[in-house]
Amino acid sequence: MGCPCDWPEPIVRVQSLSESGKTIIPDQYIKPPPDRPSLNTSPLDINIPLIDLAGLYNDADHIVRQATLKEISVACREWGFFQVINHGLRPELVDGAREIWREFFHESMEVKQKYANSPKTYEGYGSRLGLQKGAILDWSDYYFLHYLPSSLKDHNKWPDKPTSLREIVEEYSKEIVRLGRDLLEVFSINLGLSDDYLQNRFGGDDIGACLRVNFYPKCPQPDLTLGLSSHSDPGGITFLLPDEDVSGLQVRRGEQWITVKPARHAIIVNIGDQLQVLSNAIYKSVEHRVIVNPDKERVSLAYFYNPKSDLLIHPAPELVTPETPALYPSMTFDEYRLFIRTRGPQGKSQVESLKSPK
Ligand code: OGA
Ligand code: NI
Repeated sequence: MGCPCDWPEPIVRVQSLSESGKTIIPDQYIKPPPDRPSLNTSPLDINIPLIDLAGLYNDADHIVRQATLKEISVACREWGFFQVINHGLRPELVDGAREIWREFFHESMEVKQKYANSPKTYEGYGSRLGLQKGAILDWSDYYFLHYLPSSLKDHNKWPDKPTSLREIVEEYSKEIVRLGRDLLEVFSINLGLSDDYLQNRFGGDDIGACLRVNFYPKCPQPDLTLGLSSHSDPGGITFLLPDEDVSGLQVRRGEQWITVKPARHAIIVNIGDQLQVLSNAIYKSVEHRVIVNPDKERVSLAYFYNPKSDLLIHPAPELVTPETPALYPSMTFDEYRLFIRTRGPQGKSQVESLKSPK
């Protein structure tokens, strides 16, 4: 312990475990019964809202725009999760970004190990989060990289293979940052704030943006483990590009887990903890998790659009009234990350534990 420069035990690539052909998973991946996937799953016909963003772009009709704003408002308040189509990212870019990362995970172990990460910054190729020895692990490998601020962007920490990866990730990142700005404007308007309110609270042009690519290998005992344990996202907004034909993401709704059915070329948007704080819990940062599959691997790209890390984030004074007092203390995103990384096991949405005592 103490030095966060290395992992507490040797790193095992889940992909290698999966490819070994064993039919039993190691004990370290077996979740306690209440966390296993089978309990409380919802009927198949329930899904998160699907919103067509064409209503915001291309000089859309005023009435259509108002209806789109309203749909987004309801989704942010009641779900914390929705998926968008006509978001402005070309279908070829969306598919290209996902597939180039799939190719990366199918490069040789030698290529991938060049980028093996450490818990100091987490950048690179990784297989665990947290430093607790003997912790129960998730059935996934990942790749983590920074895009903004540009001082943190280092192409040498992005894979050099496949050769077009860096170029595709650049274009994809630029588009996601554009979408993030557009949605923060919509959220500001919907909350009755000035158009640029949330973008300014996030630091204007100095926001943070980082990508976590998740690789969930096939799993011989999917009922005993999870690809990603239940959590809420700590940042501002998350843009998740799911696998085209393998579902896995589940969103909590009350006591139930809803399996997201992605629309073609859709991007899933969810509210992170920092927006729950800024909106004084008008918007919810909802818990979610990932289940795995016995005969299909799954790739997803989670792009985190975050406030500049040293700005104080607190409920917008405009949303604090005698009836709705401020629910959270002021904290920078840096402090918040430290707070959740050093805290014990997560239960409900991570930000709930920040709430000021009444
Ligand atoms: C995440 C996440 C979901 C998925 O990376 O934070 O929630 O479907 N990913 O991979
Ligand atoms: Ni998440």
